[in-house]
Amino acid sequence: MATAPDFFVEQPTIVTDRLLLRPIAMSDAQEIYEYCSREEVTRFVIFPTHQSIADTEAFITSVITNDERGMVWAIVNKQSNTVIGTIGVHKVELQHRKLEVGYALSNNFWNKGITTEALKAVIQTIFEQTSINRIEALAMIENPPSTKVMEKAGMKFEGVLREFVSIKGVTRNMNIYSIIRSEYHKM
Ligand SMILES: CC(C)(COP(=O)(O)OP(=O)(O)OC[C@H]1O[C@@H](n2cnc3c(N)ncnc32)[C@H](O)[C@@H]1OP(=O)(O)O)[C@@H](O)C(=O)NCCC(=O)NCCS
Repeated sequence: MATAPDFFVEQPTIVTDRLLLRPIAMSDAQEIYEYCSREEVTRFVIFPTHQSIADTEAFITSVITNDERGMVWAIVNKQSNTVIGTIGVHKVELQHRKLEVGYALSNNFWNKGITTEALKAVIQTIFEQTSINRIEALAMIENPPSTKVMEKAGMKFEGVLREFVSIKGVTRNMNIYSIIRSEYHKM
């Protein structure tokens, strides 16, 4: 069997029962702005609430032109063919064969298992198509829905990173979760 590359040579498109995860594009700006402009959605994430579509376009530009290895998928609802969220990988450290995942979903679609479905598929694709060994995710301790998603996707709680980041001007404790390759094969 051929050895998997260190990381994706090209960003793959991923299909699940309800979702299409495909590389984010500038044409997604309006649909992403729709939910990233809501404080309810951005309260627990590092990026500020988008004030105008220019903020969303700047976000997409930073993703598309990023010269690190990070990549973001648009979460497309297959039924309506609309973008309802994003999921991405960043802080890719090939030397340590690890990376971090992050996600945000329009609140119109919360609590339907959608992010869990997307995260499971991204974890599977990373472990099946690359040599990455460890996938991490962080969430504010005040954000139980996010840690629930991590648990449902097979990630394990490792601890609390104390006063780890400043989010919207407040220094926050973050829960850290991870899944490692050997556990994935046991799932
Ligand atoms: C966190 C987020 C991505 C979850 O997406 P989602 O598609 O609704 O997640 P899922 O439906 O797959 O799972 C959510 C789980 O949290 C649970 N949950 C929801 N509110 C909860 C609460 N207040 N306390 C505890 N659990 C809660 C749900 O019941 C569900 O678990 P279940 O399937 O066992 O019932 C979504 O809420 C979001 O985008 N939030 C804003 C951005 C954000 O916080 N991103 C993550 C930054 S780390």
